[in-house]
Amino acid sequence: MSFSPRDFRDCLGQFATGVAVVTTRALDGTKAGITINSFASVSLEPALVLFSVDCRAATHDMFAGECTRFCINILRQEQQTLSDLFSSPGQNDWDGVTYRDDCHGVPCLSDSLATFSCKRHAIHDGGDHSIIVGQVQEIDLGKTGNPLLYYGGRYRGLDC
Ligand SMILES: Cc1cc2nc3c(=O)[nH]c(=O)nc-3n(C[C@H](O)[C@H](O)[C@H](O)COP(=O)(O)O)c2cc1C
Repeated sequence: MSFSPRDFRDCLGQFATGVAVVTTRALDGTKAGITINSFASVSLEPALVLFSVDCRAATHDMFAGECTRFCINILRQEQQTLSDLFSSPGQNDWDGVTYRDDCHGVPCLSDSLATFSCKRHAIHDGGDHSIIVGQVQEIDLGKTGNPLLYYGGRYRGLDC
C-alpha cells in the first residue's frame, strides 16, 4: 500500500455527501442512533438502501444483531446538533430529541428532509465496517429545506 490511512481519509473526504442519522430500538426498548454519511441507494425494485457501520461502534452489534428494523433520517442543515449528538460515542441522551415511532416502534427523527423506514435485508463484510442493506418499507418526504452536507472533514451548506 503506497498511501497512509490519513491520506486515504483525506482523499475520501473529497467526496461530498449528505449526513443521516440511523435510528433503531433494541428489544428492551432502548433507543439508539448513529450519524453516518455512508448512505447509498442500491436498488429501485425492490427498494434497497445501504449504510456501513464501524465494527467498533457501540451500535454495531445492534444493527448487525437484534435490531432488524431501523430508520434512516436525512438531516437538514439546521439539524447539525443531531449529527453531533449521534456521532458522540456511547449511549446518547434523547431528552430534547423530537421523534415519532413508526408502525414497528422505531424512532424516526422529526423534521428530517426524508426518512426511510427499513427492514434489514442483508449484512455484508466490509473490512472494519459491516455493510447493512435495508429493504425500504415506508418513506416520508419530510420538511423542505437544505441538506446538511459533509465535505473535507467538516459540515457545509449548499452555499459553501
Ligand atoms: C459526518 C459524519 C459521518 C459519519 N459516518 C459514519 C459512517 O458512515 N459509519 C460509521 O460507522 N460511523 C460514522 N461516523 C462516526 C460515528 O457517528 C461515530 O463513531 C459514533 O460515535 C458512533 O457511535 P456509537 O459508538 O455510539 O455507535 C460519522 C461521523 C460523522 C460526524
